[in-house]
Amino acid sequence: MNSYTIFEKLKEKSSTTNEKIIKFYDEATEDYEFWSKDFNMHFGYYIPFKTNFLKRDTMLNQMNDQVFDRLQPPKQNAVVVDLGCGMGGTIRHGLRKYPLLHIIGVSLSNFQVTEGNKRLKNMNGLLLEENFCDTTFASNSIDGTYAIESFCHAGHSFDALKEAHRILKPGSRLVIADAFLKKEENELCIGDEYCYNQLCKGWSLDGLGNINTVHKHLERIGFKNIHIEDISFRVAPSVLHVPFATIGFILKKILKKQEIQPQSWKNLKGSLFALLSGLHMKSFGYYLVTAEK
Ligand SMILES: C[S@@+](CC[C@H](N)C(=O)[O-])C[C@H]1O[C@@H](n2cnc3c(N)ncnc32)[C@H](O)[C@@H]1O
Repeated sequence: MNSYTIFEKLKEKSSTTNEKIIKFYDEATEDYEFWSKDFNMHFGYYIPFKTNFLKRDTMLNQMNDQVFDRLQPPKQNAVVVDLGCGMGGTIRHGLRKYPLLHIIGVSLSNFQVTEGNKRLKNMNGLLLEENFCDTTFASNSIDGTYAIESFCHAGHSFDALKEAHRILKPGSRLVIADAFLKKEENELCIGDEYCYNQLCKGWSLDGLGNINTVHKHLERIGFKNIHIEDISFRVAPSVLHVPFATIGFILKKILKKQEIQPQSWKNLKGSLFALLSGLHMKSFGYYLVTAEK
């Protein structure tokens, strides 16, 4: 293989389509129960003496708390939207905290919407099969919105941020918890670029936005009071759970004599490259972004 082909191969990042995202989540969502009994499909937030480093769900649920603390939704007669809601783990957590709130989640995956709604019975929550870049919510109608590890599927695109701004009532907030690049894609060194491309392929991500570009986009769209926090060190303890969770998942499958499906392998690969990318702290960071309309 000549050097040009190697370079092209390393650069090859299968750009994600909604079909790929749907296939991935329709088939791999059940695996996440192994990651979180509460079906949190994200990393956690570690606070010494408050969360338990050995109990993953305490950190994952703390991430939910951190998002709601920044969102500051009105406690009643209000509607909050979860943009890219997974199985509704964060919604259930939020509704236990604010039982009089209404939270609507949107996801591309029919499996997540059907199964997630079963888990929201008797709660003020509802999941809809919609695209967060083009929702059916009326403009200026929503009291708060958040996106946890979901906008990365759309490369933290201008369209996704703009849609969040459109649906929010003036004065209400968008909170994003996600990994971002600290530089442009073309500035990554070859090792970082390889991890990044494998991460995107594994998890069907369109790419991670550059945090500085996302900041500029938020300003251009009209958000104000934009607050960007690098929480990489808070997130790291839960990322370190990845190898143990991965080995446990594979062993369980072997013991139960179950085959590991292609989308599950993709998920495992995405998780391992998330861990490797996380080690390259000059290029990648995990942030909480809060912005007000
Ligand atoms: C890693 S999961 C995170 C789920 C959830 N936020 C959580 O933390 O548990 C990513 C979610 O984003 C959703 N998603 C990705 N692209 C989407 C899009 N364009 N519109 C709506 N949902 C999308 C997926 O269906 C999935 O539910």
